[in-house]
Amino acid sequence: TTPSITLSSGTVIPQLGLGVWQATNAQTERAVRFALDEAGYRHLDTASTYENEEGVGRGIARSSVPREDIFVTTKLWNSDQGYEPALAAFDASLSRLGLDYVDMYLVHWPLLDRNIRLRTWDALETIAASGRAKAIGVCNFEPHHLQDLVDRGGALPVVDQVELNPHLPQHAIRDFAALHGIAVESWSPLGGTSNSGWGPASKPNTLLNDPVITRIGEQHGKSPAQVLIRWHLQNGLIVIPKSTHDDRIAQNIDVFDFELTDQDLTDIAALENGDRVGLHPDEMNLGAPA
Ligand code: A2P
Repeated sequence: TTPSITLSSGTVIPQLGLGVWQATNAQTERAVRFALDEAGYRHLDTASTYENEEGVGRGIARSSVPREDIFVTTKLWNSDQGYEPALAAFDASLSRLGLDYVDMYLVHWPLLDRNIRLRTWDALETIAASGRAKAIGVCNFEPHHLQDLVDRGGALPVVDQVELNPHLPQHAIRDFAALHGIAVESWSPLGGTSNSGWGPASKPNTLLNDPVITRIGEQHGKSPAQVLIRWHLQNGLIVIPKSTHDDRIAQNIDVFDFELTDQDLTDIAALENGDRVGLHPDEMNLGAPA
């Protein structure tokens, strides 16, 4: 079974979950049901801007797994930042999911305006106090964004979900987060898709066919994706690979019967090249309120 991590709030999160970015509602519902009922997943990661929260909710409702056994994360979209808008957006997400609480609610991007970022965090604290989000966190926050929240006082995010894989190991964010008890979650853990339609993202995924990753996989009798997922797990990261294909969903959680060696980890560390598929958070202001 999937190991768990205890977050600073005391909330327990399965270290491996299913991502659903770019999946339609119908694909998402199917993938979620398969992941829960057949593959053993207990952690789902969606977002308001993925426009598939309904699919996640239907997949949960039609699965045989009780709600309380599933860790559900969704995210606040940029255009809903600010105090009142964030409260309203959270209600809307819950109703699309058909749930009366989420396990974690995340701010999707920091945005450039520090003031609105702080007002948004005020709203997340209000939501957490209501008990309808068991934990609150952020995505794509650089150390300076996190520092603003440290300076503000009050609750810190329990996680920072950032683009992270062997090409972009995010040492500075991980060091800062560790210092403040913030867990780090990896998005695009397999190197991402080549067709996201935004950011510098038309680059092909070169991690899944990287010769070093492939060779390590062959040595363990595992696929490149499984090697990459193991790399996240052994680095103490929370990882949410996305797939809508049953065989891949099953494969991506079948990673608890082997271990990367120290030499494997050293060889993978040499793949760092700074490539990212998303925008740098200091350049991302898409949809920001005027
Ligand atoms: P698909 O949904 O068509 O299976 P990331 O999680 O890094 O964003 O990358 C996920 C991408 O990799 C998706 O395009 C997904 O496509 C694909 N993918 C997911 N799991 C695997 C796997 N085990 N082997 C190969 N490709 C995979």
